[in-house]
Amino acid sequence: MADRTKRIQDIAQLPIVGENPPYPVLAGDLDILTLMAGIAERADCGLCMDIGHLYILRQQRGEPIERPEDADFPWERVVEAHISGITCRDFTAYQLVQDQHRWPVDDPVWRTTELLMPRMTQLQALIGESEGMGIDDLVVKLERMDECLEAVSW
Ligand SMILES: [Fe+2]
Repeated sequence: MADRTKRIQDIAQLPIVGENPPYPVLAGDLDILTLMAGIAERADCGLCMDIGHLYILRQQRGEPIERPEDADFPWERVVEAHISGITCRDFTAYQLVQDQHRWPVDDPVWRTTELLMPRMTQLQALIGESEGMGIDDLVVKLERMDECLEAVSW
């Protein structure tokens, strides 16, 4: 993936920004931040942090949202961040957590955003994924996003 990313950047002469994907089903035990860091360093590319996706992954694995290893993640490569709502459904042997763009953002995802944003010192865009969201919820979401941006002092 790193070689392909680097090749595309070289050919297009444009920066590539890799995003952490959603995790409706877990496979393997490699943490996404470890994978993203390796790709970004090798390809010398930017990163997009979908905060909801990261929250979902850690939730599905029963891990805390913040791990000591995260301190080594190249947060300065994150130039874009995404926020959306989530849904949780408990099955007998599995908790399915998915992002839902039309739903309000849940408090744990806001807390995760407030925790991680100060580390993203090169952030250029905070995207509120909101397809299908009602106008009242959208206004609340945008106001809260604005508060998150105001709270960081890069
Ligand atoms: Fe996203």
